[in-house]
Amino acid sequence: RRRALVVVAAGSGTRLGLGMPKAAVPVTDRTVLEHALDAVSGVLQLDLVVLVLPREPHAKQQLAATSAVVADRCGVEVLTIPGGEARTESVSSGVRAVQQHAQRKSWSGPVQVLVHDAARALTPTEVFHRVLEALDAGAQCVVPALPVTDTIKRVDASAQVAQTLPRKQLRAVQTPQGFTLKLLERAFSHIDKLPEEEAADLTDEAMMVENLGEKVAVVEGHPHALKITTSLDLLTVRALIAETEG
Ligand code: CTP
Ligand code: MG
Repeated sequence: RRRALVVVAAGSGTRLGLGMPKAAVPVTDRTVLEHALDAVSGVLQLDLVVLVLPREPHAKQQLAATSAVVADRCGVEVLTIPGGEARTESVSSGVRAVQQHAQRKSWSGPVQVLVHDAARALTPTEVFHRVLEALDAGAQCVVPALPVTDTIKRVDASAQVAQTLPRKQLRAVQTPQGFTLKLLERAFSHIDKLPEEEAADLTDEAMMVENLGEKVAVVEGHPHALKITTSLDLLTVRALIAETEG
């Protein structure tokens, strides 16, 4: 079997609001993307890493330099490609790059694909391992997740509570999400047939797999795999780094 990792890092970081693509934001003296790639090492036995980068020229140039570092450290081929308007488009481009590479290199046999948000910059390697183990054990789609601590309610258009969801059953889903390339290809051809509105509501690729009626396995995520979305998240991530270095 072959293994590819697609890291999506092409988002604009609007909610963080620092006026630059999120992947290029300095967390320490190193960017969000550099931190995210710390988890990527030889032990994951990857055959390919695809970095999906912002089109903004300055960030693109800065982040492309990161790819050489990863290639060196892991002895793995690293491709960089431009992202799209929406996350789904960026993932789709990344997956297409995996397909093309597989064809060029005449890969035979099953291909596993991990799709990971660069914004989950401190995701520990152990989470990658748990996802890969589940794929090795035969799962076609795997997500890491944690129990939620808030009570989650569904609210209707008139700002009234419509439903309180049973918290015990709820999980907050993280990345990397793992797939067989075959299933991911099927999922994307399914998306292409969806009305644009519905396609825009897909917040992750596992959701497309659910829509196909296929099983999605759940493994344990990690608190450090939080997504840097707002300035509060960035503070948290900086505090976590300070704690482990101090
Ligand atoms: N992403 C991407 N291409 C996009 C949008 C998002 O590659 N067009 C990536 C981001 O870089 C990030 C991950 O998907 O690693 C999760 O997205 P999100 O947290 O929403 O990041 P941004 O879109 O950058 O943030 P915002 O929505 O606040 O602009
Ligand atoms: Mg976004």
